[in-house]
Amino acid sequence: MPIEIDQCLRQISNSNDMETGRGITLVAHDQWSDYLAGLSAFQQAQIAQKPTPIKANTLIELTAEDGRAGPCLWVCDQNLTKEEAVWSFAQICAAVPAGTYHFTDTSALHLGAAALGWLLENYQFDRYKKVDANTIKCLTLPQDPTVDEAITAAEAIALGRDLINTPANDMGPDQLEATARELATQFNATLSVTMGANLEKDFPAIHAVGKAADIPPRLIDLTWGDDTAPKVTLVGKGVCFDTGGLNIKVANYMTLMKKDMGGAASVLSLAHMIMASGMKVRLRVLIPAVENAISGNAFRPGDVINTRKGLTVEIGNTDAEGRLVLCDALTLADEENPAIIIDMATLTGAARVALGPDLPPIYSRFDKDAAVLLEAGTQVADPLWHMPLWQGYMENLDSSVADTNNVTDDAFAGSITAALYLSKFIRPETKWLHFDVFGWSPKKRPGIAKGGHIMAVRAIYKGLEKLI
Ligand code: BES
Ligand code: ZN
Ligand code: ZN
Repeated sequence: MPIEIDQCLRQISNSNDMETGRGITLVAHDQWSDYLAGLSAFQQAQIAQKPTPIKANTLIELTAEDGRAGPCLWVCDQNLTKEEAVWSFAQICAAVPAGTYHFTDTSALHLGAAALGWLLENYQFDRYKKVDANTIKCLTLPQDPTVDEAITAAEAIALGRDLINTPANDMGPDQLEATARELATQFNATLSVTMGANLEKDFPAIHAVGKAADIPPRLIDLTWGDDTAPKVTLVGKGVCFDTGGLNIKVANYMTLMKKDMGGAASVLSLAHMIMASGMKVRLRVLIPAVENAISGNAFRPGDVINTRKGLTVEIGNTDAEGRLVLCDALTLADEENPAIIIDMATLTGAARVALGPDLPPIYSRFDKDAAVLLEAGTQVADPLWHMPLWQGYMENLDSSVADTNNVTDDAFAGSITAALYLSKFIRPETKWLHFDVFGWSPKKRPGIAKGGHIMAVRAIYKGLEKLI
């Protein structure tokens, strides 16, 4: 965690101690004129200097009569009583200058949303560039269980963002494994790793993609919880760098490819939330960790490779490597018949073309499971969009020399056909959800730093128990 949580958030049990630092008073936009009329002439005179009319989502900083910093007013048109208000609180945090704050009236606020929005806005990636301590904003909130949950979520999301932001020279398969190992130690989980000859024998597609790299490919397998509880298996694409392989990417498409382990970062983030909460599940996290590199022994376009499932795959494009590493991990996941399999992957550029960087497509064979997660996503302001596993496009993956191709020979419906490819490796009756996440925020927004972006994870966490 780049910024220590207790530097940005303090929970106070005694309400007399609440009033540390500057107060922020929330004023509903439609009650602004009445509120203004009740202020002192000194304060009204300060507000008269501001451009009128005062718009919603504006911060007004008042100066006290002795010249010191006075209270802050936040004019708002949003409902801050619900969990979905998280980004509004992040916006407030973004607007105030560095310092220590409290809300003058917390009685109607969703304290967990306030804490999470505040913490996410304070996130900075400081591995290579130190954070200026003078930029930290600290909020005091009354103690509440939702605040504790928010702290866990913020820690989990910071972990995921850090993993994505760390470049491939410091976040290869070795370091991804080390991170999973640390998480396993922290939560008393078990970790095993398959590599070398065993990987080649048992997970031939993961091996085929990763074999060209200096750092060996592997499958990371973490398990946690009581064996008798419903089995939840998370699978995350862990391509630590995607050059495209021999079908090499052009420069501007390769620039961001350190983020191609964004699915692995997302499932580790989700696993952190699940384990920290003590959810009654038997959790398994599978991460095929590889680099899609180029060298003399790289897999080639036209190669036919085997998979754990026994389906042969003609390689139409070495840049469609994510589905190859995932298909072996998904096969393993399905072998123990879990209650649910959830995979997350930065799988296609087409998902971003279809829905943009902020709205991850979710694929499910069962509409009602997708509906549960969409609803959960709305509740926590972590939106998702349900896309079809349109069977009519399945034949576009046909191969004349193997059981399937890894790509279609047209450029249509790229995210759907990638999902259809994965579906070939999971039994039809299995409850399986697939997320084609972007894993990156191209720009800074309140609560969302430019860079690694953990999406869909809070939605899944919220809806998971309804699905199993
Ligand atoms: N890692 C990429 C997908 C990606 C690209 C995600 C850009 C987010 C942003 C993936 O391995 C890939 O290259 N997919 C190809 C598939 C194509 C060759 C069928 C793509 O999407 O172009
Ligand atoms: Zn690729
Ligand atoms: Zn990739």
